[in-house]
Amino acid sequence: MKKSNSFYGYSLILAFFMLSLAARSQLSTDFYNTSCPKLLTIVRTQVQNAIKVETRMAASLLRLHFHDCFVNGCDGSVLLDGSDGEKFALPNLNSIRGFEVVDNIKSSVESACPGVVSCADLLAIAARDSVLLNGGPIWKVMLGRRDGLVANQTGANNGLPSPFDNLGGHTIGLARCAVFSNRLYNFSGPGIPDSTLDTNMLSDLQNLCPVNGDGNKTTFLDRNSTDLFDNHYFQNLLNQKGLLGSDQILFSSDEAKTTTQSLVQSYSANSSRFFADFVNSMIKMGNISPLTGSNGEIRKNCRVVNS
Ligand code: HEM
Ligand SMILES: *[C@@H]1O[C@H](CO)[C@@H](O)[C@H](O)[C@H]1NC(C)=O
Ligand SMILES: *[C@@H]1O[C@H](CO)[C@@H](O)[C@H](O)[C@H]1NC(C)=O
Ligand SMILES: *[C@@H]1O[C@H](CO)[C@@H](O)[C@H](O)[C@H]1NC(C)=O
Ligand SMILES: *[C@@H]1O[C@H](CO)[C@@H](O)[C@H](O)[C@H]1NC(C)=O
Ligand SMILES: *[C@@H]1O[C@H](CO)[C@@H](O)[C@H](O)[C@H]1NC(C)=O
Ligand SMILES: *[C@@H]1O[C@H](CO)[C@@H](O)[C@H](O)[C@H]1NC(C)=O
Repeated sequence: MKKSNSFYGYSLILAFFMLSLAARSQLSTDFYNTSCPKLLTIVRTQVQNAIKVETRMAASLLRLHFHDCFVNGCDGSVLLDGSDGEKFALPNLNSIRGFEVVDNIKSSVESACPGVVSCADLLAIAARDSVLLNGGPIWKVMLGRRDGLVANQTGANNGLPSPFDNLGGHTIGLARCAVFSNRLYNFSGPGIPDSTLDTNMLSDLQNLCPVNGDGNKTTFLDRNSTDLFDNHYFQNLLNQKGLLGSDQILFSSDEAKTTTQSLVQSYSANSSRFFADFVNSMIKMGNISPLTGSNGEIRKNCRVVNS
């Protein structure tokens, strides 16, 4: 009896210990309240300045957080320089951008609170602010991630992007001819343009992106609502005006009839619903395998691991 009491007592202590470990490893909205009280103000100001210089930067920063989280979790791995970096993976090459802005954010934050805030968290805050400053919803960002020690180029080649997307990040930003030209010419098939692309838009895009033209030329992902974070993207999908094949299939593919089509309709009619679901998705995405506790590190320079 005595033995089993102490056994239970021990188990209870162990359980509390594990619980406290679990609690400590969770992200929280006030993680830096005392260690870096001005953090959110500093990042907001920096993002604001960057968007003033170039509107597109909001989109680029949002995408950075997405591409960070989908490879080895939200650990700042996308920011690491080097030829084996994720920057050189096919979905990112000549495409992902905003690194100089992240450098500026990091150096302002380092001046205020040296060695305290992770690059992974800066990406999460910058993404939130980018959405907000372009007219989108606001949410409380979960914080407390630490930075990873390795980049994962293979992971970036295999894991980006996910085959389904109900976040709707393509309501802002640009895409290059190289990523949608096949819809205009079907190079691998009989040369018939994608029938789920509006015909006026098709001829516009063919002018912009001639065969053998400059694949780096860009156009807006969300035509006619280019810089506003809103549900117009979904209205475009209803009208066959999605830019990427991966956008338009959310409404037009056979598979969509039983999966995403009703969601597209609902988001296009109800922006509150889109915003609410988008916020939930962003928080979920931000929770993908964060490094916490003593895992990883707080990088001094977002481009390199500490020596
Ligand atoms: C199936 C999922 C997705 C696919 C296939 C996809 C694909 C793409 C492609 C091909 C581009 C253009 C790249 C280029 O022109 O070089 C792009 C841009 C972009 N994506 Fe996605 N994406 C997906 C999901 C997402 C998600 C979930 C978000 C946001 C959370 C997002 C945010 C963005 C933004 C903001 C841009 C524009 C970036 C800029 O202008 O710098 N994407 N995406
Ligand atoms: C942390 O700071 C935020 C924003 O200033 C505030 O809303 C929140 O109550 C603070 N939390 C704690 C635990 O101090
Ligand atoms: C890289 O990502 C892949 C998933 O695509 C994973 O299986 C692998 O363990 C990762 N490698 C490293 C070094 O993190
Ligand atoms: C290109 O043509 C092939 C063969 O007809 C077809 O299977 C494919 O879906 C087409 N691709 C586009 C983007 O229209
Ligand atoms: C885009 O520009 C880069 C250099 O900035 C070049 O290396 C690449 O080949 C170009 N891509 C396309 C599709 O034209
Ligand atoms: C939508 O955008 C396209 C391309 O930028 C432009 O040609 C067209 O006039 C716009 N339509 C409306 C209704 O604003
Ligand atoms: C729009 O979505 C919001 C949030 O999900 C919901 O509360 C509201 O009832 C919806 N409005 C309509 C007209 O369906």
